[in-house]
Amino acid sequence: MHTQKINKAVFPVAGLGTRFLPATKASPKEMLPVVDKPLIQYAVEEAYSAGIRHMIFVTGRNKRAIEDHFDTAYELENELINGNKQALLKVLHSIAPHDMNFSYVRQPRSLGLGHAVLCAEHLVGDEPFAVLLADDLMVGLEGGQSVLAQMVASFGEYQRSVLAVQEVPLDQTRRYGIVAADPVAPGLMKISKMVEKPAPEAAPSRMAVAGRYVLTPAVFKHIRNQGSGVGGEIQLTDGISSLLADEAVYALQYEGKRYDCGSKEGFLEATVELAMQHPEVGSHFRRYLRGLDLA
Ligand code: G1P
Repeated sequence: MHTQKINKAVFPVAGLGTRFLPATKASPKEMLPVVDKPLIQYAVEEAYSAGIRHMIFVTGRNKRAIEDHFDTAYELENELINGNKQALLKVLHSIAPHDMNFSYVRQPRSLGLGHAVLCAEHLVGDEPFAVLLADDLMVGLEGGQSVLAQMVASFGEYQRSVLAVQEVPLDQTRRYGIVAADPVAPGLMKISKMVEKPAPEAAPSRMAVAGRYVLTPAVFKHIRNQGSGVGGEIQLTDGISSLLADEAVYALQYEGKRYDCGSKEGFLEATVELAMQHPEVGSHFRRYLRGLDLA
C-alpha cells in the first residue's frame, strides 16, 4: 500500500465563543491564555510535534488576532533587539518556527464544524489531514507523545481515519460525538457507528470524540452530502458517519489528558494544572495553593 504522511492541519476557529462572554466580545476565544500561551498556540504546537508543518486556519470575523499572533511583530522585535532581550526574542520566535507555513480561509457563516472543514478543502487537496479543535487542550503523558502524534502513528499503520476518543459519564453524551467501536489493538478500536450529541438513552456507548481527528480526503465528499444535523448545523460527525460505508475509521483511546477549555470549569482546571507544572511560576504557584484555606 502507498503510505501517506500527514502534512496539514485544519484549525476551525470561526466560532463565536459565546460561553466566554464578556471576554470574547472583541477577542477570539482561541486567544484566551492558559498561563502564558493562547489556546490556539497549544493546538499548533501539538500539530507541529506530530510532524505537521502546514497550518490551515478556518477563520471568521473578529479573528484577526490569531493571524497577527503567528505573524512577525516587527515593532516588538525591534524593541527587544534594541534592549538586548534575547530570552524574550526566543519566546517570540518559537511561536512560528521557520519551517511552519500558514494559510487562512474564511468561513463566511456559522454553518457548523463540518462546513468549516469543507471551507479548507481546496487548501488540503487530495491528501489525509488533521483537524484540531483548540477548545480541547490536550496534554500527553509526561515524557510521552502528544495526542495528535499518537494518532498520526496509528494512521501510519492503518492509512485510515483516526479519531481521538475518551470515555465520558452517561449524562454527558449530549455534548459529544459518540461512537460504537470494537477493539482491534491495544487502545485502538474500529468504529461501527457514530452519532452527534445523542441523549443518554440513544447513545451507542460512552465513548466520546475529543477534538482531534486525522481524516482521509474521502471525508469531504461525505460532508458535502450532509444536510443540516444537530443544532441545524452541518456536522463533521455526520460526514464521518457516512464515510463508514466506504472506509474503515478508527478510534484511539489516547494517552494523556483533555481539558475542555470551551467551558469555564475546564479552562480553570487547565490553568491551575498547567500553572503547577510551569517551569517559571510552578513552584511559587504550588506553594500559594498549599497556603489556601479551601474549607
Ligand atoms: C464538537 C464535535 C463533537 C466533538 C466535540 C469535542 O462539538 O461536534 O462531535 O465530540 O467537538 O470537543 P462542540 O464542542 O463544538 O459542540
